[in-house]
Amino acid sequence: MRAVVCRAFGPIDGLELGEMPAPALPEDGVRIRVRAAGINFADILVVAGTYQEKPSLPFVPGLELAGEIVEIGAMATRFRMGQRVMATVGTGAFAAEAVARENDVFALPDGMDFATGAAFPVAYGTAHLGLTHRASLKAGEILMVHGAAGGVGLAAVEIGKAVGATVIATASSAEKLALARAHGADHTIDYTKEDVRARLRDIAPRGVDVALDPVGGDAFTASLRTIGWEGRIIIVGFAGGTVPQIPANHLLVKNASAMGFYWGAYRAREPELVCASMAEAAAWAVAGKLRPHISATLKLAEAAKGLKLLADRKATGKVVLTVDG
Ligand SMILES: NC(=O)c1ccc[n+]([C@@H]2O[C@H](COP(=O)([O-])OP(=O)(O)OC[C@H]3O[C@@H](n4cnc5c(N)ncnc54)[C@H](OP(=O)(O)O)[C@@H]3O)[C@@H](O)[C@H]2O)c1
Repeated sequence: MRAVVCRAFGPIDGLELGEMPAPALPEDGVRIRVRAAGINFADILVVAGTYQEKPSLPFVPGLELAGEIVEIGAMATRFRMGQRVMATVGTGAFAAEAVARENDVFALPDGMDFATGAAFPVAYGTAHLGLTHRASLKAGEILMVHGAAGGVGLAAVEIGKAVGATVIATASSAEKLALARAHGADHTIDYTKEDVRARLRDIAPRGVDVALDPVGGDAFTASLRTIGWEGRIIIVGFAGGTVPQIPANHLLVKNASAMGFYWGAYRAREPELVCASMAEAAAWAVAGKLRPHISATLKLAEAAKGLKLLADRKATGKVVLTVDG
């Protein structure tokens, strides 16, 4: 099958469009004809060989996709042939075909196109479960989202508003902040130019209730300085490259928490929880409460170009690859 192939760990320029054997179908899985695949920051780390899970070479990158079911494993019961679905996979989305365990496959809502479906599972799954389950975000609370124009960040802005929170978005440019505002953010801060702590003295004098952080480094420090009483900092990732160290005394004095959150591990350990979360997020999308933003749609052969947009901080929302027949 046609696929983007990683033959050696390293820079994304080393990726090539080639041929790979179609993956074997697990008994509890389905085979999907891929129509579109979403690009994630984690793909860059997987290709570099620095992600927490390291596939054996050669492999096909790509964590999420949308398409139609073309084969069903002997033990799989939840889907039918030809059904439109979106799915997450450890690797393998940047290809004509992919296989996924049933637990990682979700019905594509009527009216949601394949590109949007491919952009949905990781960003919205992470933002929804992270905010509603891990952080227990409630209506009326104040949510700060770092990197708020990125894939997970913009999804978190929308999920925060859907829950009924006041949302403070941080990002690195006026354009990115305008996008966050267009997707519901109540307040915006350019964390490369402004002092987040000083801005929050006006916006949220008692601190924020929840801070969602896919960036790390200085953004994490800003969360620690501005987290409020019984506040929750949700550690999602380190796109900025610096893994923060936590001075525990800051947490102690505010009865605050810094919590790790790894969506992929929930998929493996608590699939029912993830399925319920995805169902609610998909229902919110159908109801118009979530509006996934795709800033670039590229061909499968342009996978490296798409990944570079994320690496260079030029992407907003999601970048999607379309896969021709
Ligand atoms: N824990 C989980 O379950 C989980 C799930 C999904 C993703 N993640 C992680 O969350 C992070 C974001 O993923 P994503 O797919 O949403 O990425 P993305 O779309 O590329 O967004 C990342 C954002 O981080 C900011 N950023 C700051 N410094 C950066 C740098 N040096 N290079 C690139 N971006 C930088 C950028 O915003 P500004 O330019 O505005 O700063 C960018 O919008 C990644 O670390 C990813 O591995 C974790």
